[in-house]
Amino acid sequence: MELKSKNLLGLEGMKKEQIELILDTTETFKEILMRPIRKVPTLRGVTIVNLFYEPSTRTRISFELAEKRLSAELVNFSANTSSVQKGETLKDTVKNIEAMKIDIVVVRHPSPGAPHFIANCVDSSVINAGDGAHEHPTQALLDLFTLREKYKRLKGLKVAIVGDILHSRVARSNIWGLTTMGADVCVCGPSTLMPYEIEKMGVRVYSDLDKALDGRDVVMVLRIQLERQRSGLLPSLREYTNTFGITKERLKRLNKGFTIMHPGPLNRGVEITPEVADGPYSVILDQVTNGVATRMAILYLLSGGEKKLE
Ligand code: CP
Repeated sequence: MELKSKNLLGLEGMKKEQIELILDTTETFKEILMRPIRKVPTLRGVTIVNLFYEPSTRTRISFELAEKRLSAELVNFSANTSSVQKGETLKDTVKNIEAMKIDIVVVRHPSPGAPHFIANCVDSSVINAGDGAHEHPTQALLDLFTLREKYKRLKGLKVAIVGDILHSRVARSNIWGLTTMGADVCVCGPSTLMPYEIEKMGVRVYSDLDKALDGRDVVMVLRIQLERQRSGLLPSLREYTNTFGITKERLKRLNKGFTIMHPGPLNRGVEITPEVADGPYSVILDQVTNGVATRMAILYLLSGGEKKLE
């Protein structure tokens, strides 16, 4: 089986079998990453450009590591040290980069839809590494992989996504991915940070955190973007923490063997206490570890996935 699209732009509309293919392939790459020599020649001769118009630690470094471990050639582009500063458009930038003969573009951009726009401008494969508040498909895939690895299933898993749902591309991609895989998803956060008609995405909506956490297996905690208080969407960070912060006390409502997730970066003491973030049930660093194998799987599959992996 192979991926049906030459791009990975989002999880909206992606079929269950395609998600399963990515997760199964990630398992193979995770096993490769456990070996003493973590490098394979699979993408030798493939050139990848990492096009980052926004800051990133986890996504940028794990794509770069994934590319190096697959023996691809890579180039890193950062908007603030490029001719974007002289007014060059996104279209001109990607057309010029493609003229240097590249195969894959990994793009993070603050504007929703930027990866789709790029995919219409170039012949190379395009991977969305986060576009505004729209989607972050590789984050959701590594989250699904982390959960499947722990529970051996996704179907029926009860997941609560807590925080600023309105501005979260991680929430959107996870909602699409988790519901497609048969998980039961609810969202919880202040009404000012809840998208209009979000229940149409197949999730239940709570404004009471204790009710949202009752009988859940997984809590996916989202970062509160500190600028939301300045824009008037939150009365104060202290009030947010009191009402929606994930504390050890609140974990009592969760099912046995529960899991705490966070895509990072964390605002310790705001949306999650350090005690919870670093607790034994937290898989936050496992998510980061699995990000490399997940991105290796995606790069491999988008490059044709023809070579046998041993
Ligand atoms: N999870 C995530 O996207 O983190 P970065 O912004 O550091 O890439």
